[in-house]
This record gives sequence, structure tokens and C-alpha cells, in this order.
Amino acid sequence: MRLKSKVALITGAGSGFGEGIAKRFSKEGCKIVVNDINSEGGERVAEEIKAAGGQAVFLNADISTNQGWKTLVEAAVESFGGFNVVINNAGFTHKNQSMLTVSEEDFDRIYAVNVKSLFWSASNVVPILERSGGGVMITVASVAGIRPRPGLTWYNGSKASAIITSRSMAVELAPKKIRVNIINPVMGETAMLEDFMGMSDTPANREKFLGTIPLGRLARPDDVANAALYLASDEAELITGACIEVDGGRTV
Ligand SMILES: NC(=O)c1ccc[n+]([C@@H]2O[C@H](COP(=O)([O-])OP(=O)(O)OC[C@H]3O[C@@H](n4cnc5c(N)ncnc54)[C@H](O)[C@@H]3O)[C@@H](O)[C@H]2O)c1
Repeated sequence: MRLKSKVALITGAGSGFGEGIAKRFSKEGCKIVVNDINSEGGERVAEEIKAAGGQAVFLNADISTNQGWKTLVEAAVESFGGFNVVINNAGFTHKNQSMLTVSEEDFDRIYAVNVKSLFWSASNVVPILERSGGGVMITVASVAGIRPRPGLTWYNGSKASAIITSRSMAVELAPKKIRVNIINPVMGETAMLEDFMGMSDTPANREKFLGTIPLGRLARPDDVANAALYLASDEAELITGACIEVDGGRTV
């Protein structure tokens, strides 16, 4: 049990990578606060964790807002007495298209969910982690932030911002014993895939992207979950400000 008696707060855990992280962490003894704005997905994940013998609560909250984080933190304190691990995983993208046709509304939403959420996350969780002697924060960013593909310009920029913001947080929060690390997945088998591809998810279309990934497959939720597990565990106690590319060699 690599996360025995820990509590993790995981945003966007109603599907995809967040769901994978929630279920993997639960198997390692971690109690989970499942967050999402999609109640159907979030409730399903929390119920499946409980049915498998784990402990989880679901909270519908928009993590791009201060109020969303306040209710999330309150839920963790009320249900489990606090938390040790925060996974900033929820994300939003525009569909793959010319940077000139993305609406201002989509641009603002991308930055609210992918970047401003870190501001509200930090202001709400850092004081609590500090009071309990430290903790772990993990940002699920993307290889998009270091090796951008065309058609995703505004999303790519938001992920680059999430990466450098998280690395800066790592340095600033180290004296408080709060480690901050980043996971950069390659294109993955989740609900966001078709938006990134900009075309329907057919075997022929997937081939076009697989050719750019040396190990020859897309990321799966368990790939990201296993990296998050290492970073959240005490095995990584000297690791902070690091980016782990879960990308099959895409960024080499
Ligand atoms: N799928 C990929 O190809 C890929 C690649 C690299 C990085 N990522 C990143 O991985 C993370 C997880 O995405 P995924 O691929 O699992 O997609 P997903 O759509 O399966 O999961 C994202 C979840 O975030 C939730 N969410 C969105 N906005 C929210 C908000 N404001 N508050 C709370 N929840 C919110 C959604 O409802 C959804 O359940 C994202 O940050 C994404 O940018 C995805």
C-alpha cells in the first residue's frame, strides 16, 4: 500500500486520466475526493471505488473558481479530516483548428480551467497543506506545452503556462515541504482525443498520430496514474519541480 492513510483531492476525476488516477490511488490505500463538473461521471467513479472496497466522495465543483476550490477543500476536511495530495488534472481545449477561428469565449475558458485553476488551487490548498506539515501537488499538463502540434495553439500555450507555473510553485513551496511536480501525457485514449485530433477517431486517423510516437501507442489512464502514484508516494520525497513525460518518446 504505497498511499496508505493518505487523502487525495483529484480534479476532473469523472473520466479519463483523472478517473485512472483515482482508481489506482484507491488500490494503494488512498481515500479519494473525486471532483468533476460532470456529476454522472464523478458519481460513477466514486461508487465504483466504494464497490471495490475503497473510500471516496464525489463533489461537483468548478475548479476554475475560488468558490469551487473552497467547497472542494471543505468536502475533504469534512469527509476525511484533511488531505495530503492534490492532483490538478481537469482540463479544457478548443477543437483542433486555425488559431484565428478560436472564439474569445473558448480562449477564456481554456485559461480559466488550465491556468487560473492553479491560482485558486494554490490559494485554497497551500495553507492547509502547510499546517499539516507538507504535501504533494501534481499538475497534469501536456506534451502540448513543450512540443506543440499545429491547430492547438491556445491550448498549447495554456499548458506551457501550467508547466512553468507549477515549476515555480515547486521552488517557492519547497520550504513548506510541499512538493509540486508535473506529468506531461502524450495524446491519450480519453474523451478529449477527438478535439485534439480535429477529426473522428477512426483506426486510419489514429495511424497518422501513432507515427509521431516512437513507442507506437497513445497514453492510457493507467500510464498517467502510475506516474502520478510514484510522484505522490514517499518514494519521490526528493523530487520536486520535475516534469515526467508519459509520451512514448514523442518529445525526444
Ligand atoms: N487526452 C489527451 O490526449 C491529453 C493529453 C495530454 C494532456 N491531457 C490533459 O489531461 C487532463 C485530463 O484530461 P482527459 O484527457 O482525461 O480528458 P477527459 O475529458 O476524459 O477528462 C477531463 C475531465 O475534466 C472535467 N472538467 C473540465 N472542466 C472542469 C472544471 N472546470 N471543473 C471540474 N472538472 C472539470 C471534465 O468534465 C472531464 O471529466 C487534462 O488537463 C488534459 O488537458 C490530455
